[in-house]
Amino acid sequence: MDLYEYQARDLFEQHGVPVLAGIVAYTPEEAKAAAEKIGGVVVVKAQVKVGGRGKAGGVKVAKTADEAFEYASAILGMDIKGHTVDKVMIAQGADIAEEFYFSVLLDRANRNYLAMCSVEGGVEIEVLAVERPDALARVAVDPSVGIDAAKADEIVAEAGFAPELRANVAAAILKLWDVFVKEDATLVEVNPLVRTGAGEIIALDGKVTLDDNASEVRHPEHEELEDKGAADPLEAKAKAAGLNYVKLDGQVGIIGNGAGLVMSTLDVVAYAGEKHANVKPANFLDIGGGASAEVMAAGLDVILNDEQVKSVFVNVFGGITACDAVANGIVKALEMLGDKAAKPLVVRLDGNNVEEGRKILAEANNPLVTLATTMDEGADKAAELANA
Ligand SMILES: Nc1ncnc2c1ncn2[C@@H]1O[C@H](COP(=O)(O)OP(=O)(O)O)[C@@H](O)[C@H]1O
Ligand SMILES: [Mg+2]
Repeated sequence: MDLYEYQARDLFEQHGVPVLAGIVAYTPEEAKAAAEKIGGVVVVKAQVKVGGRGKAGGVKVAKTADEAFEYASAILGMDIKGHTVDKVMIAQGADIAEEFYFSVLLDRANRNYLAMCSVEGGVEIEVLAVERPDALARVAVDPSVGIDAAKADEIVAEAGFAPELRANVAAAILKLWDVFVKEDATLVEVNPLVRTGAGEIIALDGKVTLDDNASEVRHPEHEELEDKGAADPLEAKAKAAGLNYVKLDGQVGIIGNGAGLVMSTLDVVAYAGEKHANVKPANFLDIGGGASAEVMAAGLDVILNDEQVKSVFVNVFGGITACDAVANGIVKALEMLGDKAAKPLVVRLDGNNVEEGRKILAEANNPLVTLATTMDEGADKAAELANA
């Protein structure tokens, strides 16, 4: 889950990272009140989960509360790279002397963490990384050690900070590492990290990605950070039902058990689709080990409600949950869904008790269901039906 800047700011504050006052506002009136509360120069900042807000006109310095009102009026409703601004943050204005860059992230390719730091912040870091790679220090962080004092010193030295700044910047980096580890983040990025005229080091922008896998169990409090309104409604529904679902841009709904089988089903359907006007898989849905009627119904309910879906391919390999239980699940799910289940279903069962399973489906004789014996045959049939 990506956080908004104001949420990142709040987490930073909780972990002792130096930040400035910030208040979220949904209307120009609220923005004005927030500016009055903070006092002095403030910055009106669009809250959208995309970078480059400054360049897009979504960050404006307001010298008075009335100016904050004006800028908030202009920024609220603005479109920034396809994201509509529905809230702004009124941030205390900083007297910026210098802008730096710092980030730490999960480096999957190297099975490690990576810290990046530069004395040239503020600009788009992707541009810096390409045009002046030497200006961006990249320091590997051993997960079993993390960023300790020595590592923080190494990072600031590599980045080329002036000796008199190093201790303060290193202290901020240690706090940011706390955010990264204690909140189970996969990315913490500060651009810019600034030095103020008074010599303080402050995080002026924050981008944080939390690891959803950790959030569920280790951080129930993260649920509050979720942007429920913005989530895809089908994904939200699947999540509420405890399903492992990802919506894709295709026509053939996919249900399988086990992530590996579902992944290969996506491939096989995409391949089969080439012969049927290029239809594609509509989703990833793994119903897991216990394919009960309820889980099957919840899965079918999500997929059949996807308007793009024209056919569904159920591809299940019976293991601990035998094929007859899955077949009963499908039959009951179709009963439960009634008229809502009005799209053709291709079912391929194999494995434990397959004969029983096929018999149950054959006897139920639901006109929507077509049985397939192999995965290739099922994928081809489902693609054909999607294109019918
Ligand atoms: N609180 C603030 N006080 C003064 N200047 C700010 C403040 N917040 C942002 N800025 C300025 O605006 C620029 C862009 O803001 P930032 O939060 O980094 O948004 P983005 O990265 O989306 O463009 C910063 O590089 C900084 O120069
Ligand atoms: Mg920024």
